[in-house]
Amino acid sequence: MKTSQHFARLTTVLLCSALFSVAHAEDTAAKLPNVVILATGGTIAGTGATSTTTIGYSAAKLGVDKMIEGVPELKKAANVRGEQVAQIASESMTNEVWLKLAKRVNELLAQKDVDGVVITHGTDTIEETAYFLDLTVKSKKPVVVVGAMRPSTAISADGPINLYNAVLLAGSKDAAGKGVLVALNDQINAGRDVSKVNTSTTDTFKSPDLGFLGFMQDNKPHFYRQPVRKHTADTEFDVSKLEALPQVDIVYGYANMNRVALDANVAAGAKGIVQAGVGDGSMAAQMLPAFREARQKGVIVVRSSRVGAGIVARNGEVNDDKEDFVVSDTLNAQKARILLMLSLTKTSDTKKIQQMFYTY
Ligand code: DGL
Repeated sequence: MKTSQHFARLTTVLLCSALFSVAHAEDTAAKLPNVVILATGGTIAGTGATSTTTIGYSAAKLGVDKMIEGVPELKKAANVRGEQVAQIASESMTNEVWLKLAKRVNELLAQKDVDGVVITHGTDTIEETAYFLDLTVKSKKPVVVVGAMRPSTAISADGPINLYNAVLLAGSKDAAGKGVLVALNDQINAGRDVSKVNTSTTDTFKSPDLGFLGFMQDNKPHFYRQPVRKHTADTEFDVSKLEALPQVDIVYGYANMNRVALDANVAAGAKGIVQAGVGDGSMAAQMLPAFREARQKGVIVVRSSRVGAGIVARNGEVNDDKEDFVVSDTLNAQKARILLMLSLTKTSDTKKIQQMFYTY
């Protein structure tokens, strides 16, 4: 065979294999879910001076594209792309960022070519953002909030595996219809029930009363239960036209507390006050007149608890019927604040608000 014939044959073979690999790549991509990563900052985007810096690092440094580049395995999990919604340490999270995030999530999930959303977030207020979205996302498609307890520069950084698992989860049909999920440390929590319970360990996210919904293992979710309270697609709250949320503050209960903080919040225009009370949301005798005065000024008072687990029931050690107070059921104070803010966008009727606390 002449050299030219050899060359022509070789060219044909190389061309065919190139076309095949392109077709295969396109075929694989077509089979993978489309997941959008919305970044807000936090430790998962954090950097430290050395690989052993796990305290004293800077949160919210890496951009979303850098985070995606840092985990090439994401390409095996889904077709991912990123958007930077904010770049903050989550202790600085604001109602404005929440509204921007909820609106963007709803826009994306309304698109046929988006199968799920991942939100990267600082762990300090992940539980609050997750619950806010649980009450405002208008879709059954998966929304997964993820963070990390070690910065990206640390040895055994947990961000990459947490992000990989979050993208797998957001692309999984099994995660649909379960409300907003918080997934770190191979564990899957419901946005409504989860809390950060340890200041620094990687297993910090727990749902004290009800436990995990399931686990991430072997590149897929394993679910064992699902939330029964209303969420996401069944929510009555619509933030699409909201530019702000009603001011709701929290006063912390403790032995020998005084009314200074409560009075200051009311004077500053709070529309609602949540008490993180001792025990079953108990109200100190010396505080009752202050809460009563707040209620008489039209402020909605919700009794929650600093305990972090259990039901705060009506008419326990406070006559809620007489005082016209609301109780938080099993929502801790920071989550009760979120539901009260959204409730106040619809009503100031305490009976209707109480029903919302029994519904969501
Ligand atoms: N500053 C904290 C935050 O952004 C760091 C904690 C973390 O993200 O793990 O929530």
